[in-house]
Amino acid sequence: MPWKLAINGLLPYLNWLICILIASDNIISSATGIQQGDPLGPLLFAMAIDGVARSIASPFNICYLDDATLGGSIEAVAADLFRVIPSLSLLGLEINSSKSEIINLNYSADDFESAIRDIRLILEDIKITPKEELHILGSPVFPMAIRECLDTKHVILTRMTEKLRQIDTHAALFLLKNCFSLPSFLYTFRSAPCYLEQDFLNEIDITVKRFAELICNVNFDDTGWRQAMLPLSFGGLDLRSAVDLAFPVYLSSLSSSHELIDEILGGSPQCFSGSSFEPACSVWIQELLSLPH
Ligand SMILES: *[C@@H]1O[C@H](CO)[C@@H](O)[C@H](O)[C@H]1NC(C)=O
Ligand SMILES: *[C@@H]1O[C@H](CO)[C@@H](O)[C@H](O)[C@H]1NC(C)=O
Repeated sequence: MPWKLAINGLLPYLNWLICILIASDNIISSATGIQQGDPLGPLLFAMAIDGVARSIASPFNICYLDDATLGGSIEAVAADLFRVIPSLSLLGLEINSSKSEIINLNYSADDFESAIRDIRLILEDIKITPKEELHILGSPVFPMAIRECLDTKHVILTRMTEKLRQIDTHAALFLLKNCFSLPSFLYTFRSAPCYLEQDFLNEIDITVKRFAELICNVNFDDTGWRQAMLPLSFGGLDLRSAVDLAFPVYLSSLSSSHELIDEILGGSPQCFSGSSFEPACSVWIQELLSLPH
């Protein structure tokens, strides 16, 4: 398997990464853990935790380094927790219960209450998150969480761009274009169907336009703004439009990761293909058909 080969190939180099501190004539060699910022840190962490991650029996199990999400019946998830916590502890790891969340997808309130009581015995500070606010790896899971997620980013965009007015205009335009405008939204656009929130995307574009006008000290009319949104190579300012981009980036991400997602979710149709991809494709086809020939 390529993954194993890669690890074996790396092993001879690991020795080089052991940090050595020298204090006058004494050598203090690093005895515990990986150094902060070590590029191999994530890989070594993943190797250490691999056995535990694979031992999880819940039907939904995704782990990305120290971020794990389990899903299934209350019994299955609780059984995993009871088993995994001691195994993690053998590795010197513990779950921080105040950073953990539990989300009720479809249990009745009473059943959920009693399940919470059991789970609080092991993770006492676990937070109950409403389904509408469920995020996995920073991305909203249900469509009703999208607006709030975009809104948070929009507030940050406004706050940062107000500060940009206090610095040199060239640097301000550079930062607006490359950091605070579309690049900060792109991950959410790629990972969630933000195209469903056209009004909100339009508000993002209006904010970017307003700040571009303030920074450049010009007023863009419709044609001018359309030109400013073009890439640099086409004579624009490369201030890309959220309305234009949200849909194609979502669709292309979904299309290129579709097989991997199906593999991770065990091909479960209600999780993926049936839910997002096909409706998005038909909207795209409609849009293509409505273009003037
Ligand atoms: C757990 O997370 C909270 C919130 O981020 C933090 O304040 C606390 O120090 C953490 N506890 C441990 C034991 O790391
Ligand atoms: C919740 O949904 C899952 C998946 O659709 C289903 O298998 C399960 O029976 C449902 N549970 C309840 C309590 O309705």
